Amino acid sequence: MNQRRHTYKDPTGHIFTIEVNSDPPYLNVYAFWKGFPVAYAYLSQGENVSAILQDIKIQDAPLTWYQGWRWAEQVIFVRSFRRRGVGKRMLEIALQELRELGIKRVTGRMDQPSPWLINWYRGAGFEVANNGADISISL
Ligand SMILES: CC(C)(COP(=O)(O)OP(=O)(O)OC[C@H]1O[C@@H](n2cnc3c(N)ncnc32)[C@H](O)[C@@H]1OP(=O)(O)O)[C@@H](O)C(=O)NCCC(=O)NCCS
Repeated sequence: MNQRRHTYKDPTGHIFTIEVNSDPPYLNVYAFWKGFPVAYAYLSQGENVSAILQDIKIQDAPLTWYQGWRWAEQVIFVRSFRRRGVGKRMLEIALQELRELGIKRVTGRMDQPSPWLINWYRGAGFEVANNGADISISL
């Protein structure tokens, strides 16, 4: 397994470690805040030189299993890990990694498409099919 680490600082100064684990046919990306996992993106190799974005999720509500000060810090200062650019950065890192692996196309499907989610994928360079759920990008 090949592992790479990146650092991402959000606009309010919170620092995230983004870890990419490449273990063909899987590519898993995780984001950590102060050592705790707060987001994941799962991708896998499809046919030929394509890959599939299986899932991407950023933690929203505070994690109940955080202990003591970490929990308080999270509730008071962070609240949600969404809308901090973490998802966008994770996706960028995943796509770059796939490019380096020779992948030419990534596809996926939104389970619960919404206008903002469609725009979010478009902002990341994806095309959204007419059915409003299938997404794809050429690398
Ligand atoms: C979709 C998801 C991965 C986006 O990641 P994120 O780190 O929160 O988003 P980013 O910080 O990269 O992008 C933020 C931008 O996306 C849009 N956006 C994100 N969440 C939004 C929401 N709930 N309502 C409206 N716009 C939203 C806004 O344009 C936002 O920019 P703004 O905060 O300046 O207005 C995250 O919201 C998530 O985990 N959602 C639940 C799981 C999910 O739906 N996954 C997609 C599976 S197909």
